[in-house]
Amino acid sequence: MCGIVGYIGSRQAQSILTGGLRRLEYRGYDSAGIVTLSENGDATLLRAKGKVAELSSLTSKNSKVDGLGIGHTRWATHGAPSELNAHPHQAGDVYIVHNGIIENYKELKEEVSGHEFKSETDTEVLAALINSLYDSDTKLEDAVTQALQLTVGTYGVAVVSTRETGKIVVARQGSPLIIGVGSDEVLVASDASALIGHTTEAIYLNDGELAVCTANNVELRDMASQPISAKVEKIEVDMQAIQKQGYDHFLLKEIMEQPSTLRSTLNGRVIPEQHRAQLGGLNMTTDELRTVEHVVIIGCGTAYYAGLLAAYNLERLVEDLTIEVQVASEFRYRSFHLPKNSVALVVSQSGETADTLACLREIKRRGVKTLGVVNAVGSTIAREVDGGVYVHAGPEISVASTKAFTSQVAAMTIFGLQLAQAKGIGLKELDAYIEELAVLPDEIERILATKNDELKEVAETYATYEHALFLGRDTLFPVALEGALKLKEISYIQAEGYATGELKHGPIALIDDRFFEVMLIQDNWLFDKSLSGLAEVNARGGHVLAITDTQKEVDAETVVRIDTTLDLLAPLVMNVIQQLLAYHIAVIKGNDVDQPRNLAKSVTVE
Ligand code: F6R
Repeated sequence: MCGIVGYIGSRQAQSILTGGLRRLEYRGYDSAGIVTLSENGDATLLRAKGKVAELSSLTSKNSKVDGLGIGHTRWATHGAPSELNAHPHQAGDVYIVHNGIIENYKELKEEVSGHEFKSETDTEVLAALINSLYDSDTKLEDAVTQALQLTVGTYGVAVVSTRETGKIVVARQGSPLIIGVGSDEVLVASDASALIGHTTEAIYLNDGELAVCTANNVELRDMASQPISAKVEKIEVDMQAIQKQGYDHFLLKEIMEQPSTLRSTLNGRVIPEQHRAQLGGLNMTTDELRTVEHVVIIGCGTAYYAGLLAAYNLERLVEDLTIEVQVASEFRYRSFHLPKNSVALVVSQSGETADTLACLREIKRRGVKTLGVVNAVGSTIAREVDGGVYVHAGPEISVASTKAFTSQVAAMTIFGLQLAQAKGIGLKELDAYIEELAVLPDEIERILATKNDELKEVAETYATYEHALFLGRDTLFPVALEGALKLKEISYIQAEGYATGELKHGPIALIDDRFFEVMLIQDNWLFDKSLSGLAEVNARGGHVLAITDTQKEVDAETVVRIDTTLDLLAPLVMNVIQQLLAYHIAVIKGNDVDQPRNLAKSVTVE
């Protein structure tokens, strides 16, 4: 979704801003723009529909040495993608970039007079409002504060003025903003990846805070203009982690790096020699864990599916536990009841998803303990939960989530182990999970090394279909849902996931030559039932691609066999096969694999 960068210092702002915007491209966007100001207040506003590359060609024709500027990548909410709707927006002396949504922009628009609106955006209304409050005796930060007090909605904003060319004013309500502190320069960004390579010191703005940034100083205050002391934290992401490292796409890199990212998830947390697992950051005593009777897992998209899969593991590990898994965008508006002794696991790769964050706040408000299962360090969800676990999958740049899923499931399974240990549950079940978790990275590594070429070939066969059904039973049901999501996101083939047992209850009617069916079949106690499902599809002329761990005969058009020692966690390996399938189909179709159309990486609006 939208991205913000800002710079004040002695270097050329234009190149730092466009470089920062390029780092934010992965978030998904449809237009980009920057404004830079010279010391005497001349503004150079450049905006372009499309990619940052279009913007860069404008900056090379209009190169300026200005040391102050703000920039933005826009993901359209109000008004179509166009140069006029792209940020920064201007009103009088004021230029602004904005992430989020101003809900009362129509009312505010009626109140501001004397501004001729050029765009359809809510952001231009905010620019006009600030400008209307910015008379000659008022400082920019005071005009911004007054305007934001009248605003309903969410925002991360960066504002500059041609009248006060030594400062950037930034503020946050519901949309992340980070201030990078360098030596004699300050950068602002909505995402730490834009700061990497410039500084490792950052101030994370909280909701309701505003900062006045000059090249040498950052002054924090609240919306009542009371000063707040700033906490400078370390940014831990390195440059390597946000580069393609020789892969054609970030997506392939992220699929391939799962063995190592998973090792980071498990490191120090799964200790097979001692038959135990431990998580450091839960902030819960053994006694508190022992009393947990109910777990609610909240997430969106892939994070939700990770929760669905982890729930099977948790309920197998802890008998007296009830578990529900909820889609955040629905749960936040329901009259939900959480029993006493509940714990909420809030799952999010980005840690910024608006619906998930809203659930977290509502659950906290009701006095229920919240634990984050988050990838992005320092993100809002990670900061607001009572405790939790970083999944340590490293930056996920490709819009479609892959390595985060694997690490989320592993991290939640470790949480289940910790819960089981606290409740004194027997070693046998625990040990089976501990042993499988410990070898999972090696198993995935072996499968990736041996199966990529095969999946590339298989993808040639299935890239021509218009529709796909993904079917699985038990733990393979959430994996089927995730497989369908991955395929539709990046290949644009319409794909649905179903529990194999549901086939006869409706989806079987769909089967025809426009469809192929991915059937996930595990050689366990449900093997024969899965084969019955397969026979039903075959009998209707289906085109089945079976992904299975059995070496027995499987009557399908195509069979991809994985050779694994895993049982409980084999679904995670099968999911890796699905990731490769979706990736290769998307490449064959010539799609923008890392930035699929209409999608955004971090969904910070409802
Ligand atoms: C799927 C995907 C999305 C995200 C969802 C939640 O590939 O990327 O479905 O999983 O938007 O995002 P996070 O995990 O950042 O809360």
